[in-house]
Amino acid sequence: MRSIIITGGAGFIGSHVVRLFVNKYPDYRIINLDKLTYAGNLANLKDIEDRENYTFVKGDICDFELVMDLMKKYEVNGIIHLAAESHVDRSIKDPFTFARTNVMGTLTLLQAAKLYWESLPEK
Ligand SMILES: NC(=O)c1ccc[n+]([C@@H]2O[C@H](COP(=O)([O-])OP(=O)(O)OC[C@H]3O[C@@H](n4cnc5c(N)ncnc54)[C@H](O)[C@@H]3O)[C@@H](O)[C@H]2O)c1
Repeated sequence: MRSIIITGGAGFIGSHVVRLFVNKYPDYRIINLDKLTYAGNLANLKDIEDRENYTFVKGDICDFELVMDLMKKYEVNGIIHLAAESHVDRSIKDPFTFARTNVMGTLTLLQAAKLYWESLPEK
């Protein structure tokens, strides 16, 4: 079984990607990691929330420990990264949150993926 983390899966693009993967790949475990900011809405995923191959985790992509724990727990094979502060107006009003999620969050995922991969005996 492959395990894929999809970040921002409660958002506009992410919810469609999560639904596509959950339906199309029943033998994949899909882990939706989303902080549920103003932009996230789990109602987008009502139709697949009880599927056996779907797991929702409320959390922040900047939380290195959490990302690392998920990678180990589910033996993650891949990350599709769609969590973001995506609204341009908000990037002007609140640039620090924007930079934190979009820059540090992305770096957190990359670093966790690298360290997890390096820890695998069969790499
Ligand atoms: N919407 C578009 O037309 C479009 C087009 C091209 C590219 N994109 C890109 O696709 C990505 C997603 O866009 P969208 O329109 O779905 O955005 P969105 O704002 O609808 O969704 C973003 C999701 O990320 C989550 N999120 C925000 N910060 C988080 C954090 N720190 N940790 C975990 N989750 C967090 C939110 O809760 C939300 O569910 C962005 O990178 C965007 O630039 C979007």
